[in-house]
Amino acid sequence: MNLNLVGVVGAGTMGHGIAQVFLRHGFSVVLHDSSPDGLTHGAEKILRGLKRDVEKERLTEQEAQEAGKRLKTTAEVSGLSSADLVIEAVTEDVEVKAAVFCALDSLCRAETIFASNTSSISITRLARTTHRAPRFVGLHFFNPVPVMKLVEVVPGLETTEQTLEVADQIARSVGKTPIRVEDSPGFISNRLLMPMINEAVYAVLEGVADPAGVDGVMKLGMNHPMGPLELADLIGLDVCLDIMKMLYEGFRDSKYRPCPLLEKMVNAGWLGRKTGKGFYDYAKP
Ligand code: 3HC
Repeated sequence: MNLNLVGVVGAGTMGHGIAQVFLRHGFSVVLHDSSPDGLTHGAEKILRGLKRDVEKERLTEQEAQEAGKRLKTTAEVSGLSSADLVIEAVTEDVEVKAAVFCALDSLCRAETIFASNTSSISITRLARTTHRAPRFVGLHFFNPVPVMKLVEVVPGLETTEQTLEVADQIARSVGKTPIRVEDSPGFISNRLLMPMINEAVYAVLEGVADPAGVDGVMKLGMNHPMGPLELADLIGLDVCLDIMKMLYEGFRDSKYRPCPLLEKMVNAGWLGRKTGKGFYDYAKP
C-alpha cells in the first residue's frame, strides 16, 4: 500500500503521540482536531517531541526539521479528504467516534483505510458507522506512544485479511510490534490492566495500603515500571472508569464493577496528571 498521507483525528495525548511517531518514521501527517486550541497544543507537543529526538540523537536536526514540515494541521475534518489512512483517536465515546467516522466516510476515497485507536469499544460496532467495514480495523497504541512498543491490531467482523496485513505492516513501519487480538471488550491489554488498576483502587478504599504502598508493592515486588495508581494517573482516571464500565457492560459480570472511589474521584474532577490531581498531586499543567 502506498501510504503517502496519514490522517490523525484528535490532537490529545494519544493523537499527537501517534502523529509524532508517523512523522519520525518519514510519513506525512495531517492532524485534525475540532478545537483550534487543542490542535495548537498537540502540534507544539509534537515539535517538542521531535526536538527531544534530536537531543537523544534518535534524529538529526535536519531530519527533525523535515519531519516538522511534513506535519499539517486542520480544524476542518475536510482537511483529511486525501489521506490514505485515517487513525481516529478522539474521546472514548461511541457517539463521538461514530460522528467522526460518518463524516470521514463521505469525504475520503473508498480505498482509504480507517483505523480506530479505541481502547475498548467494539471495532465491529464502529465499522458499522461507515460503508467500508472490510477496510476498517482497530490499531490500539499505548501511552506514551513514542515509547511503548505494542500495537494491538483488532479486526471487526468484516475486516479483510488484506486490511489486517496492511495494519501489521503499518505498525512495523513506525517501529511497533503488532499483536492480533479479537474484537472482545478491552481486547487483551485493558481486559487485564484495568481490573488490576480497579483492584488497586479498592485496596486503597479498604485501607489495605495507601497509594504509595500499593504502587511500591507492584514496583518492588513485581518489577512493574510504574505502580497501578501512578499508571492510572498517567492514563487518566476518567479513561480508566470508562473502560471499566465498558468491561462491566460488555461481559455483564460483576467482577468488573468499577470501584466507587474511582467514580468519586472522577466526579470530583481528579483525573490524574492532566488535571494536576489524582492519586498523587502534580504541578498544574
Ligand atoms: N510522554 C512522552 N514520552 C514520555 C512520557 C510521556 N508521558 N513519559 C516518559 N516519556 C519518555 C521520556 O521522555 C523518556 O524518553 P527519552 O528517551 O526521550 O528520555 C522515556 O519515556 C523514559 O522516561 P523516563 O526515563 O523519564 O522514565 P522511566 O524510565 O521511568 O519510563 C515510562 C517512563 C516509559 C512511562 C515507564 O514508567 C513505563 O513504561 N510505564 C508504564 C506505561 C504503561 O504501562 N503504558 C500503557 C498504558 S495503558 C494504555 O495506554 C492503553 C490505553 O488504552 C489505556
